Amino acid sequence: MKENSKRNWVAVMDFGSQYAHLIVRRIRELGVYSEIVPYDASYDKLEGAKAIILSGGPASVYLPNSPKPKINLVDLKIPILGICYGHQLISFIFGAEVGKAKSAEFGKTILTHNGNGKILKGLPSNFIVWMSHSDEVKTLPSLFKVVASTESCKFAALEHEKLPIFTVQFHPEVFHTQYGNEIFSKFLFEVCKCEKSWSIKDYAEEMINFIKKEVNASKAICAVSGGVDSTTAAFLTQEAIGDNLAVLFIDTGLLRENEAKNTLLMLKKIFGSKVHFVDASKQFLEKLRTIKDPEQKRKIIGEEFIRIFEEEAKKLGNFEYLVQGTLYPDIIESAAVSGPASKIKSHHNVGGLPEKMKFKLIEPLKYLYKDEVRKLAESLGLPAELIKKHPFPGPGLAVRIIGEVTEEKLEICRKANKIVEEELIKANLYDKVWQAFAIVGDDKATGVKGDERSYGYIVTVRIVESVDAMTASWSRVPYDLLDSISKRITNEISNVTWITYAIVDKPPSTIEPQ
Ligand code: XMP
Repeated sequence: MKENSKRNWVAVMDFGSQYAHLIVRRIRELGVYSEIVPYDASYDKLEGAKAIILSGGPASVYLPNSPKPKINLVDLKIPILGICYGHQLISFIFGAEVGKAKSAEFGKTILTHNGNGKILKGLPSNFIVWMSHSDEVKTLPSLFKVVASTESCKFAALEHEKLPIFTVQFHPEVFHTQYGNEIFSKFLFEVCKCEKSWSIKDYAEEMINFIKKEVNASKAICAVSGGVDSTTAAFLTQEAIGDNLAVLFIDTGLLRENEAKNTLLMLKKIFGSKVHFVDASKQFLEKLRTIKDPEQKRKIIGEEFIRIFEEEAKKLGNFEYLVQGTLYPDIIESAAVSGPASKIKSHHNVGGLPEKMKFKLIEPLKYLYKDEVRKLAESLGLPAELIKKHPFPGPGLAVRIIGEVTEEKLEICRKANKIVEEELIKANLYDKVWQAFAIVGDDKATGVKGDERSYGYIVTVRIVESVDAMTASWSRVPYDLLDSISKRITNEISNVTWITYAIVDKPPSTIEPQ
């Protein structure tokens, strides 16, 4: 997108902060396009940027191997905002001493400002900010003035006397900092004179035009799962190239109850005769027989998916382009634009097809976050059932079945997942949590059903809250909801006797159990 929004974007230089994404999101929410660039970006990566924001990061600027920009930031002649590590880095560059703080600050603290700072002007003189640092700026950098302090941090916000350079030790991007949006607004609109020109509708239009130009009269194919990402990616492509798109929906047999049927109906409504359906459930289950190892299961599913995709694509025609629903965090995490923090997800999307297939890739969502994709889907008029759907992993229920995927466990997993979803919807909580599902393994426990003792499966319920799946916390749903889920599963699924609730965050766990 940067190609088209070049005149009015803000670069967030990533020094390894988990919050770099959050800065980008805040800027976009304020109507200005923003992207992450690596800390060692060259001048051409910053072309057209109206401003640059330096993120936080875990390193110490005074150590030799800490991340430092390759370019001279001041040469860019655009406003700069340094946050946390960015604040220390700018101070260091301008000659200040930076070292271990006498007392590290983590969490909420009161910031007091003197009303002189351009980006704090007009805000109450005391407000809560969120800090997370163990280093601090110890002396005033040359030509800077102090505009705010906290009890233990004298230089909590600084401003250059002449140049538009601002630095803050606290994190205006996190929710716990009061007036964070106001601070960004003052920086973007008063200092940088950015225009509010970023909206999801413009994104759609620009992307459709881009695809039209790129694909031209060639043909594209997209494997869709019925989830919001792949469906929206295919929809944008359909808007651009019409009948030159083919949409392939493969039933792996690992989908939820009635999911294949309902998804197919929905896809037919959206894509009409462009949809091609393949029921490959038997092949997948056959390949998975006796396989217990989670990684091996994923590998087998991925390979089988590719095999079937290739076979079907060949039958359907000659495609030059492959459309994928890759999201922004995926490209950042895969180190394509990496800062030092990139790592995290190692799983491959089942729809992730190998390079050897020689398609040219179209990834219409690759600059968007999940919530932006949902907004985009809404603005395109895609059905609400699609937009609200929780994410569902490519390898499907296979990652929610611990051990071998048997028909019996698949049946339990399907029924239990349905109950979890239904009860959440009933409690009005479905849209408030990130994901909610049921897991089954091989462990069994004793129960009494009627007068008889029986030995049945243990089902684990997992409900998590998250913004982007990179971290997640287990949801403190009401006990009554857990109770009704538990009662329904044990009543309605005869071979389940025990229910547990997964009370673990990501990290240390992952969202899916396998
Ligand atoms: P984890 O379990 O890694 O999951 O914390 C993070 C998010 O990704 C989903 N997930 C997948 N999605 N293919 C996908 O398309 C996969 O192989 C896959 N594995 C996990 C998971 O449901 C969660 O939303």
